[in-house]
Amino acid sequence: MCGIVGYIGSQQASDIVIEGLRKLEYRGYDSAGIAALDAGRIALRRAEGKLVNLETLLRQQPVPGCVGIGHTRWATHGRPSETNAHPHQAGVIVVVHNGIIENYLELKERLIGLGHNFRSETDTEIIAHLIEQHFNDSGDFEAAVRAALSEVHGAYAVAVLCEAEPDKLIAAKLGSPLVVGQGQGEYFVASDIPAMLSHTREMVFLEDGELVVFNRSSMQVSTLAGTPLQKTPKTITWSPMMAEKGGYRHFMLKEIYEQPRAVADTIAGRLKDEEGDVHLESLGLDDKELQSLKKVFIIACGTSWHAALVGKFYIEKLARIPVEVDIASEFRYRDPIVDEDTLTLLISQSGETADTLAGLREAKGKGGRTVCICNVVDSSIARESDGVIYTHAGPEIGVASTKAFTTQLIGLYLFALRLGRVRGQLSAEECRRRVAELVSLPRKLETALELDVPIENIAKAFAHARDFLYLGRGNQYPIALEGALKLKEISYIHAEGYPAGEMKHGPIALIDENLPVVVLVPHNETYEKVISNMEEVRARGGRVIAVATRAETGLRDKCDALIELPETSDELMPILTSVPLQLLAYHVAVIKGTDVDQPRNLAKSVTVE
Ligand code: F6R
Repeated sequence: MCGIVGYIGSQQASDIVIEGLRKLEYRGYDSAGIAALDAGRIALRRAEGKLVNLETLLRQQPVPGCVGIGHTRWATHGRPSETNAHPHQAGVIVVVHNGIIENYLELKERLIGLGHNFRSETDTEIIAHLIEQHFNDSGDFEAAVRAALSEVHGAYAVAVLCEAEPDKLIAAKLGSPLVVGQGQGEYFVASDIPAMLSHTREMVFLEDGELVVFNRSSMQVSTLAGTPLQKTPKTITWSPMMAEKGGYRHFMLKEIYEQPRAVADTIAGRLKDEEGDVHLESLGLDDKELQSLKKVFIIACGTSWHAALVGKFYIEKLARIPVEVDIASEFRYRDPIVDEDTLTLLISQSGETADTLAGLREAKGKGGRTVCICNVVDSSIARESDGVIYTHAGPEIGVASTKAFTTQLIGLYLFALRLGRVRGQLSAEECRRRVAELVSLPRKLETALELDVPIENIAKAFAHARDFLYLGRGNQYPIALEGALKLKEISYIHAEGYPAGEMKHGPIALIDENLPVVVLVPHNETYEKVISNMEEVRARGGRVIAVATRAETGLRDKCDALIELPETSDELMPILTSVPLQLLAYHVAVIKGTDVDQPRNLAKSVTVE
């Protein structure tokens, strides 16, 4: 969490840093700050609350200079306040940091003993003082940063300036993401690609333990110990427009509407029609290895974990391999049974989620094979996995995940088809039939999006409720969980997802006329059973919002609101039923006046445990 940006070049750094921070606000937004160097002097401004407060402050008290660093914070150590906001300064040194320093108390004690005075409650401030201490000893900025960072334990991405060497910006990373953007006579460094996209698409991805020293005309990457490294820039295909709202009121709404395109892009180039197969370009496992797999784990957090639950249905059905799904923070500590015939699939939009990354390392450490489904090119999880299936959702800025989720389901489906084919569980014809349905999905998603206005009306009728229940069976159960999570995250209404058949074992006690129950009831083999569960809700005065397929007649009388989707296969239906639940959560949140794109207490990229 937290976002950092650095700039060195010939433009005003504050404009560029603020513009970058705006793109990183999804990573945290409880306070923000900036420091710029001009004529050998550091000017620093910080403000509690959202970035807009810092922008207001900067209009009154600008910070000139062509070298600068900035930060948007998601509090870990110390409450959100101006004093705890970054950058943190110690003498001539100023630092922004994303991550957690685990041995900060021990270091702080030592530094206090050496006469350093601390002003904030943060772990970051010790980095500034530690660098200052080494700088006082050696008089060499770069050597001081190297020495200080070799003493800290934990995770960091840092950008550092020094008043005594005003034409230099130093950045380094260990465990937190950091990307360098190369412009014409200028350099950018940031926690994520969108922060720099409007200036350059040439990016260098730093690895853990690497440090980069910039001056205005050059940059040099090296290991923390000082060994120079040659890094080749990659050209990013995301366009700057992808990180803009493009006329939509919120990023989340834009991203919901982007799903037909995102799904089509994730499928594109991966279907082998003639062979009746699927091509996954960087899977990292050959056919023999795929054939020898005996077990699959799918590991993820939050919304990505919901995708994993659907993935279990896909892989078990199409490839007939047992699949275990785990929440990453549980997997990493439960000593899972992994061997060389076990594949661990990691799902992560950001590719930086700390628990998922730790799960990946746990699985690799036990000798298992790893593949990730990831949206961010060259992110930590993508780099460390043996193979990667990229989703092509484009940057997801809204904190509540939407298009990343549906494209993860596509990635999982493609992988299950490939696995089914290579293991002889699926004939070419069976694969071709599924692929034909898959190709028609973007159009059906567009039809689902046409329900926006009726769903907004449903939201108006139910937005006052204090609790919601979401029910689904089979592969719709994870979608019930996801629908409930979306509502909770952005409207702050308590919501629970439940397997419809499990309702009678407890949650039925909650049902009365005040509890809206969203029932996922597309036509499939458990249709009649879900209808019975719906009747059980109705019999107790509960109010039902049914999400069904259009062909169903007679459902209108059984519910208070009906959302009718186009038909698709049972396997792809979770992708379609996700859309009305995203729209319902969105409209309820808008009616309630919450901050849809940046809901309270959340951050998009959870890089802490
Ligand atoms: C919910 C949401 C989170 C993320 C979770 C994992 O809308 O976005 O629950 O899904 O934090 O993030 P990634 O997929 O980046 O690993």
